[in-house]
Amino acid sequence: HGARSQHVTSHLILLAAVSVAVFFATMRVIPVCVSYHMRKNLVGRDINKKGTQGGEGSVPEAIGLAPGIVLVSGALVYQTLMLTLRTDTTPYDEAWHMEFNAGVVSVLFMVLLGFVDDVLDIPWRAKIVLPVFSALPLLASYRHGTDVVVPPPLRAYVPEVPGISVDGILYLGPIYKFYMVLVVVFCSNSINILAGCNGVEAGQSFVIGVGALVLNLLNVCSDDKNTAANHMLSASMLAPFLAATYALLMHNWYPSRVFVGDTYTYLAGMCLGAAGVLGHFSETMLIFFAPQVFNFIYSVPQLLKIVPCPRHRLPTFDTKTGLLTATPNYNLINLLLHIFGPCTEKDLTIRVLVVQVLSIAFGFGVRRALYELGWVL
Ligand code: UD1
Ligand code: MG
Repeated sequence: HGARSQHVTSHLILLAAVSVAVFFATMRVIPVCVSYHMRKNLVGRDINKKGTQGGEGSVPEAIGLAPGIVLVSGALVYQTLMLTLRTDTTPYDEAWHMEFNAGVVSVLFMVLLGFVDDVLDIPWRAKIVLPVFSALPLLASYRHGTDVVVPPPLRAYVPEVPGISVDGILYLGPIYKFYMVLVVVFCSNSINILAGCNGVEAGQSFVIGVGALVLNLLNVCSDDKNTAANHMLSASMLAPFLAATYALLMHNWYPSRVFVGDTYTYLAGMCLGAAGVLGHFSETMLIFFAPQVFNFIYSVPQLLKIVPCPRHRLPTFDTKTGLLTATPNYNLINLLLHIFGPCTEKDLTIRVLVVQVLSIAFGFGVRRALYELGWVL
């Protein structure tokens, strides 16, 4: 056990060092992307400052490319160093690295998909279908059970079905894999539609990532070897992600000097979704995603075009007061303006982030409560 916690410590130190490097590298690469993107006129209008008709675009778009490339590079350098420094007693085996690589492939696929979307504006069908393919490496490498223990009080309601439901255990098999795909597709799209004020896309992703990383750090020394390894795997994806996101957020925070683009929203959703799936806490991750789940369900009338859905579902900028007021769009940012009244763009982002922090706290509360009851999430 002593040897194992020594491994954990040395891996965490390596991970921290790589993440610091990822932060500084992202800070360096963002201005480079800015100049290249401006040259190709990859820019957007900052709508909440002047309104939809407010002149030419001037803020560089799709700058998520910088954190995307840096964090993937950082993750691969980390893995290489990890394997170089490995010893016979290392608790992270080949299968661990296969899952790690699957996570990297999935994130990279989404960087590509997002960047293509930013440049070419692909139809929504493609945005739903393509993430399914990017989830396949996760399914292929997933080497853990797909059975679920039914909590004791619910057992009376679950019928015994030979081969599927036996003695309070559900052998979900392909159904569980289907659920994994749904999680990943949902995560990769849901960050993107909780958007529309400076800093909100990167901000929510950062808060969720911090919540998940805290959960990982509480479990990397777990007595259960698999739990410990799964959480280290998730932490290994999230730490570089958070470092790169923080650098991006410094540029994207109000007033935005760069826009993150779908390049970032897709990669962020995938990174968080994959970390939840590979770390075996996808249920907790979905609780952390409560604002995105709510925003998605609330948006359905517009997403399905039952109610008209404009290209941008942003609030209106009131030129007299300098405040944002709600529009009749069905999304969380407009709802927050309805409930708490008009506010500045920066305060609106802060409101969303407060809701996000509360959801993380709720997620930890639910885990704690279930633990007290003797069930594990
Ligand atoms: C999603 C939202 C859309 C929202 C848009 C921008 C849905 C279904 N889609 O679309 O309602 O308007 O994100 O957040 O909910 N922009 C700003 N300020 C910001 C961020 C973006 O003005 O803080 C504008 C810029 O003009 C930028 C553009 O939005 O160029 C980016 O939009 P994009 O990410 O391509 O929109 P979608 O993801 O398709
Ligand atoms: Mg977007």
